[in-house]
Amino acid sequence: MLENLHFPEGFIWGASTAAHQIEGNNVNNNWWAREHAVATDIKEPSGDACDSYHRYKEDISLLADSGLTMYRFSVEWARIEPEEGYFSRAELLHYRRIVEFCWEQGVEPMITLHHFTVPNWFAAQGGWRNPNAPNLFSRYVGFLQPLLDGVTWICTINEPNMVAMTQGGETGEDMVASSLPEPNVDIAHTISEAHHKARALLKQDPAKKVGWSVAAQAFHAMPGCENETQDYAYWRETFFFEQAVDDDWIGVQAYLRTFIGKHGPLPVPDDVEKTKNGWEYFPPALGIGVKTAWKLTGGKPVFVTENGIATDNDSRRIDYTYGALASLLQEMEGGVTVLGYLHWSLLDNYEWGSFSPTFGLVAVDRTTFERLPKPSLAWLGKAARTGVVTATERLGPDL
Ligand code: BGC
Repeated sequence: MLENLHFPEGFIWGASTAAHQIEGNNVNNNWWAREHAVATDIKEPSGDACDSYHRYKEDISLLADSGLTMYRFSVEWARIEPEEGYFSRAELLHYRRIVEFCWEQGVEPMITLHHFTVPNWFAAQGGWRNPNAPNLFSRYVGFLQPLLDGVTWICTINEPNMVAMTQGGETGEDMVASSLPEPNVDIAHTISEAHHKARALLKQDPAKKVGWSVAAQAFHAMPGCENETQDYAYWRETFFFEQAVDDDWIGVQAYLRTFIGKHGPLPVPDDVEKTKNGWEYFPPALGIGVKTAWKLTGGKPVFVTENGIATDNDSRRIDYTYGALASLLQEMEGGVTVLGYLHWSLLDNYEWGSFSPTFGLVAVDRTTFERLPKPSLAWLGKAARTGVVTATERLGPDL
């Protein structure tokens, strides 16, 4: 019999999104260009996505009404600076309205400044391979200051380790944690320099709590492969946690685990339960990721900025989330400081090439953009209101 999970008072509960995945018509960034390239490797373009550019009030109201109290969203650099050095005040005000609407609804915003996509002009200069990229990023962050006024929680960069592995999003590599291509060490250095520069700028306001979010991959060494696993993990995860030692918090995003053998990662075995995008159903990945982050940052407070599952079966979403939260609570009881949990994602959104892997607490009608909350939203919202995560039976059928 599963038990209810009791979280401490003050623990923050919320949900995450990212601009390109929900806004729609982000026509000035490298992803849009890739989606519409003549010989594109992308299955479906993002198009109108969830039309959250216009419907953010519905999204935030749904989150607030459920009981969740934090909304993590990202600002689209290509909207703010569509041409190099040209900054749009109207777009800045658009994002400021989102911040203010959050506050009106009793929701604390967490703002991500960079979530995978970059303006086309930045990509044309070499993207994150350009040694000048940290200065270009800082200039953009400087322009955002009026938007960030009074905003406490800032995530500078989402999953810099995935950016290094996908060569800054320039190649056809998957933008997801299931495949882990060779990381680009120059990009790793450049993006961490960008993070440190942006942090220095943002911390001119000492009230801001600044961090970045790393994709934690719960590497498991096969017997006798401990050294290979350490080497494999270094530029894919470890380095990026180490770069956060002077941050205010470390963001952990966890979905799955990866077994490492003598010659690298092993495929997901046929006989395990898999999610809609082919990942192993493995909820304890969250506890493992949090423990790793705590260790490698020398005890930075952890914020779970993403965790979730692609499934059409919402009972399995609840079951997965319960399992992930159980593994999280276990680490907290073992001494790890965890500030909060943000579910990925609020909405069924554009999953970097396809709308098919549905991670949302809320479904979105692809024609009318009507929002259709799933039972998992109410379930997580109840945890937020009470601090108690209700145990679920293992609701089948399997995925
Ligand atoms: C990313 C999200 C993505 C999610 C699920 C994370 O790697 O930050 O943008 O949608 O995983 O694939």
